[in-house]
Amino acid sequence: MGLSAQTLVLGIESSCDETAAAVVAGDRRILSHRILSQIEEHAPYGGVVPEIAARAHVEHLDGLVAAAMDEAGIAFPELAAVAATAGPGLIGGVLVGLTTAKAIAAAHALPLVAVNHLEGHALSVRLVGEVSFPYLLLLVSGGHCQLLAVLGPGQYRRYGTTIDDAVGEAFDKSAKIMGLGYPGGPALEARARSGDAGRFDLPRPMLGRDGCDFSFSGLKTAVRRAWESLEAPTDGHAADLAAAFQAAVADVLDDRTAHAMARFRDEIAGGAKDLRLIVAGGVAANAFLRGRLEKLARAEGFTMTAPPPELCTDNAAMIAWAGIERLELGLVDDLGFAARARWPLDEQAPPSLSVKA
Ligand code: KG4
Ligand code: ZN
Repeated sequence: MGLSAQTLVLGIESSCDETAAAVVAGDRRILSHRILSQIEEHAPYGGVVPEIAARAHVEHLDGLVAAAMDEAGIAFPELAAVAATAGPGLIGGVLVGLTTAKAIAAAHALPLVAVNHLEGHALSVRLVGEVSFPYLLLLVSGGHCQLLAVLGPGQYRRYGTTIDDAVGEAFDKSAKIMGLGYPGGPALEARARSGDAGRFDLPRPMLGRDGCDFSFSGLKTAVRRAWESLEAPTDGHAADLAAAFQAAVADVLDDRTAHAMARFRDEIAGGAKDLRLIVAGGVAANAFLRGRLEKLARAEGFTMTAPPPELCTDNAAMIAWAGIERLELGLVDDLGFAARARWPLDEQAPPSLSVKA
């Protein structure tokens, strides 16, 4: 990277249920990293309520930005740029963060970088260490489940996406069915640790099919049926079903990722020796899935890397970092940049059956 320790970027994230601000330096130092989770606000509803999220972002963002700047020990004029998530996500929340970033940029004559939230996840691994392009990315979060070749900032080739639910959504909904609480992903993973995956027989949607697309809604429905068929469900049943669910998800991710690895090798990497699989997004925090993907990568001649769990789930450090990468390439944005509820990383990707970008 050509950027120096003096290149400081403020990142702002507000596209879902986390309000976050961070200051990151061009030499990968995270000077501050503030996250305010809205879990308590949304928990009674068992999921994210967009209006509540937008209001909470409005209430907390200014304070978080001030705290992040304070902790970094710098003033706005010392920044090289302000980066904010400009989509995709819940539009009310995205607007709050983007407008705040625009105001700071305008007031201090700083460049604005409008960051695609998915690019934040996609590049997050490079904030942690030297990982060169191209790499294969499995992006698994609450809103997305995609396999992409990452060629550089702004350069993505999508191999597959989900045709219905995202994998994090399947975790959250399955956890809710079993009464494990919200957010469901971490709760389900914890419960699965004491479970026996062989006690329930769950489907593996898309397994063995051509291509790299995903589908998880049938798996979630199977979890519901299995749970509702129990006369007196116990904690033990929940543990077994959670383990069976995770095993099914791992089998599907393995199969789809293996297809993408073959394609990546043929189309992009050629004879390159340093083949990389990067796993990012909230679900990449799951240790069981990381372990399974690591094993697959080893068998296929890839090296798997994932950011530490706290940089897998939504945060502003990854947005600041994506801002740094784009700034280095001169990819800054106009103050008129409009927030985008949908914003695919690969704008050229053929329209799939997908209902998501
Ligand atoms: O990336 P993220 O924070 O937000 C989105 O951009 O969607 O991902 C959130 C998702 C949620 O569905 C959450 O349940 C899931 O990531 N998640 C997990 C784990 N930690 C977070 N899923 C499985 N196991 C985990 N440990
Ligand atoms: Zn995310």
